[in-house]
Amino acid sequence: MAGEKILFVDDEEQIRKLLATWLGRHGYAVTLASDGWEALKAIRAAAPDLVITDVNMPNMNGLELTRRLRADHRTARIPVVMLSARKQADDVLTGYAEGADEYIPKPVEMAVLAAKIDVLLKRFKAVTGQTTHKRGGNIVLFLHGKGGVGTTTLAVNSAVALAETTIYRVGLLDLNVEFGNAPMLMDLKPDKTLAHLAIETEPSELDDVAFSRYVMQDRTGVRVMAGSDMPERAELVTVSAAQQAMDRLKQTSDYVIVDTPATFSQLVLAGLDVADAVVVVTAPHLPSLKATTDTLEVLDKLVYPKERTLLVVNRTSESGVEMDRIARFFNRKPDLVIPFTPACDDAADRGRPFAVLHRENAAAKVMRDLAAQITVAAPAGR
Ligand SMILES: Nc1ncnc2c1ncn2[C@@H]1O[C@H](COP(=O)(O)OP(=O)(O)O)[C@@H](O)[C@H]1O
Ligand SMILES: [Mg+2]
Repeated sequence: MAGEKILFVDDEEQIRKLLATWLGRHGYAVTLASDGWEALKAIRAAAPDLVITDVNMPNMNGLELTRRLRADHRTARIPVVMLSARKQADDVLTGYAEGADEYIPKPVEMAVLAAKIDVLLKRFKAVTGQTTHKRGGNIVLFLHGKGGVGTTTLAVNSAVALAETTIYRVGLLDLNVEFGNAPMLMDLKPDKTLAHLAIETEPSELDDVAFSRYVMQDRTGVRVMAGSDMPERAELVTVSAAQQAMDRLKQTSDYVIVDTPATFSQLVLAGLDVADAVVVVTAPHLPSLKATTDTLEVLDKLVYPKERTLLVVNRTSESGVEMDRIARFFNRKPDLVIPFTPACDDAADRGRPFAVLHRENAAAKVMRDLAAQITVAAPAGR
């Protein structure tokens, strides 16, 4: 192995020089930073394959640096090795708690460091390489600017409609980590969730069998992963766990439907990073239309391709703004309009997907159209 980019962060010039020379001799491309701030700047300029950081530094210490890397969807999975003269059990545990992959006491045993770097780089490549080499299925992200517009309803029913074709293997990930209700709409009660995955399993130990413990299957065959089973557990969900779950689900699915909360949180941005198609759901009411314009603007700014975005108006009530006004509002014709039906709430109350319970309902038919349009926006098997 050679040429991997390693960023080394330490406030002591002497140590920087020493380690830079040693890493260079081992064939790594080394960048140096003298504190956490500098490190963040360097990482933004060019993401390294691995970060080695001292803990005690002025301006921003290694713990804070690691915390920030873990919280950002662009850097959450970069391996971090902490080096520190502080080697009490407490210090080591704090380092791991902030997201360090390895904690090595100073003075550093170079052979140990070399071995750890080697293992971490291999693991990082195996984890991120999966997405580039083995493409897997398509990720379809359901977004909305304002809650209560039927996003979860449409995500669940699209998943079920795709699965019912029996052509596609379908997964569903609920990124509503605080108040997720996708499993409930499918008559499922999560035992293990993304929150459990985040704290229970090391990425290197997550083989297919281990991962399957976090996934439930509904009656139509959709494999469902819940965000968390209680709001208190939501904060345990890490960005890298969500990324890993999406990677894993797509390896065994043609479509992975991802339901999201109405915010551009780091979890949602992590989904957007890998989304092959996006479904934006809006209700035909001014507050929701306004929030949807903002959502479409964000997608625009992130240069998300328009041809992979579906705009869906969901009539969650009998009233609402007329269609031609909506089209003018967005400067674009919505791809689909789901009619209002009281049967939606009925299905929700019975914990069954609406389109299964009320198959002949007009809204159920349009939801199946939505599933069909998803397969056009993101064709399977590419
Ligand atoms: N087409 C529809 N007609 C009537 N009610 C709907 C329709 N779509 C969704 N609903 C209802 O709207 C409410 C909010 O739906 P939900 O999927 O939880 O929204 P969100 O995920 O956007 O917050 C639910 O009670 C659901 O049954
Ligand atoms: Mg929802």
